[in-house]
Amino acid sequence: MFDRLRWQLLLSYLSVFTAILGVFAIAVRLVFGYSLRQSLSQELVILAEVAATHAEIQHNRLIVGDEFTNGSLALPDRKFEWFDRQQRLVDKVGNLNVNLPLNINVPVQFNKYPEQKPDETISAVVPIISHDDRQQIGYVRITQSLESLDRTFHQLDIGLISGMIISLAISSGAGIWLTRRAMKPAIASYQQLQQFTADAAHELRSPLMAVKTNANTALKYPDGIRAGDLKKFNAIASATEQIITLTEDLLLLARSEKDCSSDKLRQIDRAIEQIDLSSLLEQIATTYHAQFDVKSLELDLNIQSNLAIRGYISSLDRQAMPLIGRVFINLIENAIHYTPSGGKISILAHQIERQVEIRIIDTGVGIATNDLERIFDRFWRGDRSRTRWAGGSGLGLAIAKSIVEQHQGSIDVQSKLGEGSQFIVRLPAIFSAS
Ligand SMILES: Nc1ncnc2c1ncn2[C@@H]1O[C@H](COP(=O)(O)OP(=O)(O)OP(=O)(O)O)[C@@H](O)[C@H]1O
Ligand SMILES: [Mg+2]
Repeated sequence: MFDRLRWQLLLSYLSVFTAILGVFAIAVRLVFGYSLRQSLSQELVILAEVAATHAEIQHNRLIVGDEFTNGSLALPDRKFEWFDRQQRLVDKVGNLNVNLPLNINVPVQFNKYPEQKPDETISAVVPIISHDDRQQIGYVRITQSLESLDRTFHQLDIGLISGMIISLAISSGAGIWLTRRAMKPAIASYQQLQQFTADAAHELRSPLMAVKTNANTALKYPDGIRAGDLKKFNAIASATEQIITLTEDLLLLARSEKDCSSDKLRQIDRAIEQIDLSSLLEQIATTYHAQFDVKSLELDLNIQSNLAIRGYISSLDRQAMPLIGRVFINLIENAIHYTPSGGKISILAHQIERQVEIRIIDTGVGIATNDLERIFDRFWRGDRSRTRWAGGSGLGLAIAKSIVEQHQGSIDVQSKLGEGSQFIVRLPAIFSAS
């Protein structure tokens, strides 16, 4: 129970942390991307302005100085173009192989070419102003491939993703440690409570037995009891019987909890032995024949022979049988209680690979889908008006689940309201059935 809670806590903690990291990484990526593009735009505008100073009008023609065309500013992924006032290309420097129409209205522009390489460029256009009369004599356009910027982004992405993975790995470790620490007090107080229940149930058994014996002894001689008191004695005997059943159920439940450490309970001998499951199931089914007849229920018994498991034998169990027997008793009692007269109950048991699978199927009232996840909770009982006639305490399935888990098995339920239920118990088999 606590393991599941711990994993749920860890998972929620990690989901929140991953979401925060994700938002952080996206923010870093956006801010970094924006500022890189901004600074590149500014750099290009400055370069274009420098390039503009190298052009001048000679004999009514725009001429670009040689010293620039040989300069180191012209990188292979960059291109300078000079245009005259009529926007005709006059000169160019650089190997970048892209052709764009000149757009003098947008100073900095990003261009995409999905079909070719580079697939994205940035270009900046600045006017060329004459040194002599401050008149506009043309334009310079500088275009640069964004491949190197993309490489930077790619490296940034790798850095961010690796950072996220490393942080998640570290925080998973820290999360496991933290949840373990956080759960410790809860586990300790739960164990205390469990121990209290077990001890209280254990201590209650003797006085309750005394009340029961006294009430029954008195009832043996009804002549000595006043007429009006007979009813009261009967009520005492039946109520005591109910409390004894409840305390035994509580004790059994406490004992079948994995980490039960009560001194009282440790005294109880709980040997592990090979159990002939086929005989056990047949024996249990036989004890209910009378009840099947009373309710006119049809019984379909289909039990493979020689099914064997390893299980606990308990000296405390009221029915003096392997602990696992209680699981089938509870399931069969439920099937009988919750199946109206004339219905059918099937008990099937087979070995499937390394597991023994036992199915208790009834054609009874069924369980609402919403209730299915709660039926194994302690003291949970279905619709009171529906189950009133089967006056139990709601511990039967909780006990069954706890015992099955103690035997390294599992218990599942399938049910449809008004059609019936099917409980499936799976336990590790110890050898192949012949
Ligand atoms: N075979 C079934 N068909 C329909 N409902 C069922 C069946 N088995 C269990 N339930 C529902 O699940 C609830 C819990 O079952 P559980 O056996 O734990 O308690 P209970 O039978 O009410 O009391 P007890 O402690 O005496 O077993 C029941 O009250 C009932 O509503
Ligand atoms: Mg029950």
